[in-house]
Amino acid sequence: MAASQPQPPRGSPPVINFGRLGKDPATRALAVQDIARACRDQGCFQVVNHGISKSAMKEALEVALEFFALPKEHKEKFASLDIQQPIRYDTSSRDGISVARSFLKHYANPLEDWVQFWPEDPPAYRKKMGVYAVEIQRVSMQIMEAILQGLGLGPSYMQEKLENGVQFLALNNYPQFTHRGDDVGLGSHSDYGFITILLQSSPGLEVMHHDDVAWTAIPAISGALHVHVGDNLEVLSNGQLKSLVHRAILDPDEPRISIASIHGLSMDEKVRCAEELISEQHPEMYRGSSFQDFLDFLLSNTKGYKRFVESLKIGRGE
Ligand code: OGA
Ligand code: NI
Repeated sequence: MAASQPQPPRGSPPVINFGRLGKDPATRALAVQDIARACRDQGCFQVVNHGISKSAMKEALEVALEFFALPKEHKEKFASLDIQQPIRYDTSSRDGISVARSFLKHYANPLEDWVQFWPEDPPAYRKKMGVYAVEIQRVSMQIMEAILQGLGLGPSYMQEKLENGVQFLALNNYPQFTHRGDDVGLGSHSDYGFITILLQSSPGLEVMHHDDVAWTAIPAISGALHVHVGDNLEVLSNGQLKSLVHRAILDPDEPRISIASIHGLSMDEKVRCAEELISEQHPEMYRGSSFQDFLDFLLSNTKGYKRFVESLKIGRGE
């Protein structure tokens, strides 16, 4: 397996063979170490051998593409300015970061609570996106176990809260880059949640490594999923990990689809710095916050913070 694994270009995030997590404790410990190092040094990594079939991934991208190809009036049934809605379609840049994209965003975990809000058209949407969402939620738990173990908090730390937590899917649809105007589809930002798991139909994701000033392109490796650190992990780890700043640029060869799955706790559950990671040398650096607090921040970011996590830093803001 390892020998035939395509290796990414220099500077891109490591590719983690997920099969190693289920092996003997020594092999698992090494994989956990690799994940911990990737999260700390680069804020992201890719996973292969994660158990989600290529066909399930392909079908999720296809059905997303079919949705965006529907006539405007079908999609606009989901248009809303109210970010509290369980499903939302939009094309404009009202969110302050969209430059050239349309998106469909909706919740996914537990599926039986949310699937009723999902599109009935295309007819295979609920089935195919549902299969993908459930698989991604499973993989997210395994990734979180490894990351929490790497932080020294133990693999079952917050397990139940994460299992019952928010899974938020963002389907992004980007036009082909036409050499007229900007090549940015989605501007610089970091994601709420502990981790984001991203599937991209073609390259376009770029990340800004910590303390860097340049963007690094993330390759779209066939069958791989990209994982990055979100604001919640920065808070939980008391700053040991940093939420990854990223953006999406347009593909010059074709339109591009991506599916981002964001994983957090339930709507009103606050994420705080883990007590185990607070000490005299490392005092608590962030205020606790919930997903609902994040939505409220989006509505009333009067202090002009670039990112939500910045508004949580103790000693800044109120
Ligand atoms: C997002 C996001 C990146 C991409 O949806 O939050 O960062 O490549 N997407 O579409
Ligand atoms: Ni993002």
